[in-house]
Amino acid sequence: MSTILVTGGAGYIGSHVVRQLGEHRERLVTLDNLSSGYRSAVLYGEFIAGDTGDAALVAKTLREHRIDTVMHFAAHISVPESVENPLKYYRNNTANTRTLLECSVAAGVRNFVFSSTAAVYGMPAGGIATPMTYRLGPDSRQFIVIAAGGHAKAPGPASDHLMAFALPAQRER
Ligand SMILES: NC(=O)c1ccc[n+]([C@@H]2O[C@H](COP(=O)([O-])OP(=O)(O)OC[C@H]3O[C@@H](n4cnc5c(N)ncnc54)[C@H](O)[C@@H]3O)[C@@H](O)[C@H]2O)c1
Repeated sequence: MSTILVTGGAGYIGSHVVRQLGEHRERLVTLDNLSSGYRSAVLYGEFIAGDTGDAALVAKTLREHRIDTVMHFAAHISVPESVENPLKYYRNNTANTRTLLECSVAAGVRNFVFSSTAAVYGMPAGGIATPMTYRLGPDSRQFIVIAAGGHAKAPGPASDHLMAFALPAQRER
């Protein structure tokens, strides 16, 4: 049975995902530095207090738990604070995500779920983005591109993508 690493699993979104996974008897580990989350919110699996920017800890966690799926919810999320203190956000949301991705690629992680924000879709016609109609909005010029199958490229010529990472090709289970 594979094990899922949930980063930010003590936060709002992550703790609900942990609960859902636990209720479905998935094996999981939460990595959270509790900067805005609560230990008591993690109802299932092992809890590791730590930071996604700690490459040694992340590599050890991926290796020792034989993680093949990472679900990434560890981030700062305050828009006003991100405008006031952008470097804090670049460090956590960009640099630490890069560290997590780099460790994941090195450890052979096959699935990576990145909890982004619906803001990348701008204001779609009709007010809602669906898998059938979505287009990345013109305001969203910075992306982290994560692709399975060994290919990673920017979603379009207009985007200044921050990072492009390729995970190993999927194998049939
Ligand atoms: N809240 C929403 O409605 C919503 C909607 C769509 C997407 N998202 C995205 O989901 C993600 C999580 O949002 P949230 O609302 O759950 O935020 P949150 O602040 O409740 O949870 C974030 C969790 O990550 C942890 N964390 C932060 N930086 C960390 C680091 N470097 N290492 C380890 N743990 C760290 C915090 O302690 C916290 O438990 C964000 O990327 C956000 O943009 C949120």
